[in-house]
Amino acid sequence: MFAAPTISEEILDLKKSRHAILLAHHYQEPEIQELADVVGDSLELARKALRFEGDVIAFCGVWFMAETAKVLNPTRTVVVPDHKAGCSLVDACRVEDLREYRRRHPEHVVVSYINTSVEVKAESDILCTSRNAVKVVNSIPADKTILFLPDKNLGAWVQRETGRENMKIWQGACIVHDTFPARRLLDARAAYPEAIVVAHPECTAAVLRHADFIGSTSAIIEYCAKSLAREFIVMTESGVAWSLERAAPHATFHYVANENCNCSECPYMRMNTLEKLRDALETLEPRVELAEELMSRARLPLERMLAIG
Ligand code: 13P
Ligand code: SF4
Repeated sequence: MFAAPTISEEILDLKKSRHAILLAHHYQEPEIQELADVVGDSLELARKALRFEGDVIAFCGVWFMAETAKVLNPTRTVVVPDHKAGCSLVDACRVEDLREYRRRHPEHVVVSYINTSVEVKAESDILCTSRNAVKVVNSIPADKTILFLPDKNLGAWVQRETGRENMKIWQGACIVHDTFPARRLLDARAAYPEAIVVAHPECTAAVLRHADFIGSTSAIIEYCAKSLAREFIVMTESGVAWSLERAAPHATFHYVANENCNCSECPYMRMNTLEKLRDALETLEPRVELAEELMSRARLPLERMLAIG
């Protein structure tokens, strides 16, 4: 008697027969991260997508990340488990509004966070991720006014880090990081007085001012892995636990719940499941399809960012 293959086994078989790579963001469910060829933050996954030479990229993250992979490697088929896996930051900046801003301020340099639609990327001068945003802003001549979009918290943090005065900041926010209450962080610090606080820069200034380290998802993991500390309070999406526990097995991690779901999970990231991933590899749907002209306009600001680091 043969046992029916598990969904994970089916995915591994399909990955081989499709010549596919499975890229997963740190916020994905553990069972997805376990099957992935690469688990990373948005910058690392974009770089991996750029260099991939097989046929299919199965992108387990949110839609804008899969779009980025397609723009960087347009001849590959890019599939996602759930096409509704969006992002509140993408929704916060409509391309029409950016075009209107550009019409009124043609001299401003538009720095867009990678958490934007491909249409917004195509209207931007340069992109950034949370990992390289400070470097990107520092690369722009000091006499230029910058429009930073769409994350108000990341923008304000970058402004504090760079000391840049001539910087306008769009007022979008991440529904996960923007709703971690500083009060709950202070309660956690009182409960775990030895713990080091690590935070993603999408958190509010009220949270970030209590952080010992601020960085992108992978930067947080690297910091905890190198640290001699044994206890951390983590102000980001709790999916990061999978990598944190592997990178720093000696440490204990505490997560602070936000006010939306009383959890630390991104509802968009959690739309992806093993079943949907298996189906996407089988049917090659949902897949990212973008007009060539749109991709080539979006590629330029992406490449400018990748050249900076
Ligand atoms: P990273 O750049 O750290 O992967 O962050 C992406 C994101 O969506 C955080 O909410
Ligand atoms: Fe977007 Fe926030 Fe989810 Fe990241 S955690 S994908 S910024 S909604």
